[in-house]
This record gives sequence, structure tokens and C-alpha cells, in this order.
Amino acid sequence: MAATRAEDTTLFSPYKMGKFNLSHRVVLAPMTRCRALNGIPNAAMAEYYSQRSTPGGFLITEGTAVSSTAAGFPHIPGIYTEEQVQAWKRVVDAVHAKGGIIFCQLWHVGRASHPVYQPGGAAPISSTTKAISNRWRVLLPDGSYGKYPAPRALETSEIPKVVEDYRLAAVNSIRAGFDGIEIHGAHGYLIDQFLKDGINDRTDEYGVSIGNRCTFLMQILEAIVEAIGAHRVGVRISPAIDHLDATDSDPLNLGLAVIERLNKFQLLFGSKLTYLHITQPRYTAYGQTESGRHGTEDEETRLMRTWRRAYQGTLVCSGGFTRELGIHAAANGEADLISFGRLFISNPDLVMRLKLNVPLTKYIRKTFYTHDPVVGYTDYPFMNNANGGQNPLSRL
Ligand SMILES: Cc1cc2nc3c(=O)[nH]c(=O)nc-3n(C[C@H](O)[C@H](O)[C@H](O)COP(=O)(O)O)c2cc1C
Repeated sequence: MAATRAEDTTLFSPYKMGKFNLSHRVVLAPMTRCRALNGIPNAAMAEYYSQRSTPGGFLITEGTAVSSTAAGFPHIPGIYTEEQVQAWKRVVDAVHAKGGIIFCQLWHVGRASHPVYQPGGAAPISSTTKAISNRWRVLLPDGSYGKYPAPRALETSEIPKVVEDYRLAAVNSIRAGFDGIEIHGAHGYLIDQFLKDGINDRTDEYGVSIGNRCTFLMQILEAIVEAIGAHRVGVRISPAIDHLDATDSDPLNLGLAVIERLNKFQLLFGSKLTYLHITQPRYTAYGQTESGRHGTEDEETRLMRTWRRAYQGTLVCSGGFTRELGIHAAANGEADLISFGRLFISNPDLVMRLKLNVPLTKYIRKTFYTHDPVVGYTDYPFMNNANGGQNPLSRL
């Protein structure tokens, strides 16, 4: 439900996202930054998120581990221990102090992990025993890249425990002061490993049919909504993104199947989810390349329009948005909100820069996943140099 008449809508006009009054439509996309040493959020993260906060602006955290088996990158934060919950409070408070609204992205990487990140050096868990192909590499704690190992397929009887981990992580997020949570069902991680028929080869009630492949996501959603309410829950999917071999033979209908279930769920539950977040097909293989697939614009438009029309609620889009594309998408109603990733890394005051149409600082890919609390993290300059920072590009 837009707060302004359609013809007045711009990327910078307000939007009512459920109970949240957003002052503009530029969202901080969830981005793993590997700065939470030993899984504990810290002062550097509070600074990073605070820098990117605006009054009435919406932020989504980096993927946050829901359990001890959920990580697949070094130094990602978790939200399953009391220490983590308490430590997140400082980050949330810093965002709230600036008038921002922040959701925690709940993440389990499934097979996109390595024994080095698993309790007891065990194999990672997944829907399948198939490993991610050599096209992809896992980032190891020493900064080198390794081969993804073969995962262990979850027994049917183990799945309720994983669902419970998500539920507890959502409850913990609210205890930490977050305004809500986003279920990360995208980009080839655990939930996507159930959704996509290029990965899910199960023969139990979580596999075979498209409906069964949606069951894991829907059970997680139901458990979380019962615990914290639909108005604090967003869902992210990427039916057309093949990151980490997450291919599906029919992305259009997979997306529609999820959307139909979300619509039905909202009706049955009598309350809307906060939003659905979809990654644009053009944005793929983000860890590896600068650009998405080319020549897919028609396919992309068809998919996104179909999903947009089908979903009955707030739609957030992400992937390869420039200022111009974002303005266009908001004005044409292609999405209610646009999440920006890489440009928000290198432009802490992105909202103001987009509004004033001033040049943007280029991001430095090689510091995306390093662990320094400042370099490539909180030292990107503000327009007015308010953080006193140099342009990090000058160091290269
Ligand atoms: C460094 C980096 C880390 C990312 N980590 C996550 C993540 O934790 N969760 C997620 O859903 N997406 C993640 N993404 C994808 C972003 O949310 C976003 O969809 C993507 O960067 C495309 O937007 P952009 O073209 O504006 O960068 C990540 C992207 C980057 C560049």
C-alpha cells in the first residue's frame, strides 16, 4: 500500500511497509561482511550500520547464522547464543538512534559450508548429498579458497529441529531489539537447496513435487510467524539465480508456487507479511563477476512482472540497480522498495547521494570479505567527508 498517489511515487517518496513508516524506498540489502569476529557482533558493526541509517530508512543485516551448523564464511555473526543476542543490541540501538528500521536476515548456508565451520569438523547439512561443483569455491578462514565438500542429506526426522533453530533465531532477534527478520530463502543456501529441482533430489515429503520443495520454507515461515507475528517477517527468494549451482528447470513457476503459498498463508493467517524480497535475475554470480548475465532483459522483465502481479503485498527488488534503474522501477511500480548492495558498501550516505544525484564512490571488491574493522568497511567517505575518511581508492 503506497503512502502517496501512484503518479507521485519516486524512489524518495514515503512508503508504508506494514506498520513501518518508511521515509524513502532505498533499502540496505543484506550483505555478508565477515567482520563479526568469532560470530559476535561488535562496535565496528554498530558503526557500519549506523553510518548507513537514515530516519525512516530500512536496513537488512548481513546473513546471520541460525545455529552452530549454519555458517559457511569466516566471522559471520550468529543469533543463537545469549552472548550474540546481547551483542546485537548495540548494533540495533545504533540504528534506532538514527531513526532507522532494521531486520535481521536469518541464514543457514546448508551445503555451502566446509567442515572447518562445522561442529566437530562434520560434513555440512543439506537437502542432498551432491556437492557444489568446482565452478564455485568456499572462502576459508585463512583467506584461501577451497573446494565445497559433499554434504550430508538431512534425514526427514531431523528437519523439525532445523525449523526450530530458525524459530528460536527469530525469537532471539526480537529479544535483541530488531524490528523484524528476513528469512533467507535465496542464492543457493539451505532453503534454496530445498526449493530448486537442480539440487533437491529427495524422495520424501520435502522433495519430488514443486509443492513438496516449498514445504521446508513454509514450515519455517509458519513457525516464525506463530512466534513473532507476520508483520515482522520478510522472505527473500531468488528463483532465477543460479548462484552455487542453484538451478531450477522452471524458475517462473517455482517463483509463482512460493508466491501462491505466501498469498494463501497471509489469507489464512489474517495478516500480511512485511514483504517479499526477490533478487533480479540479472544479478548472478555476484561473488565472481562484475556483471550479471547479458541478453536476458526480456526474460527478466517477464519474470519480474509476473511475480510482481502475483504477490499480494510489499515487493522489494534487488540486483544491479543503478540510480536510474531504481528511480524507474519505483516510478513504474515494478517494486515498492529497492535494495542496494554494493553501492551501499562504498557509499554510506547512498540515500542522500542518490537523491542529490552526486557521483558515487566505487566499491573495492577485495575488501568485501576481509576482517579489518575499518578498512573497506567503515572508511568509505561521506559526501561531506564527515567521517574524515580518505577515498579508499587512493590507497590502491
Ligand atoms: C559482499 C556481498 C555480500 C552479500 N551477502 C548477502 C547476504 O548475506 N545475504 C543475501 O541475501 N544477499 C547477499 N548479497 C546479495 C545482496 O543482498 C544483493 O542482492 C546483491 O549485492 C545485488 O545488489 P547490488 O547489485 O545492488 O549489489 C551479498 C552481496 C555482496 C556484494
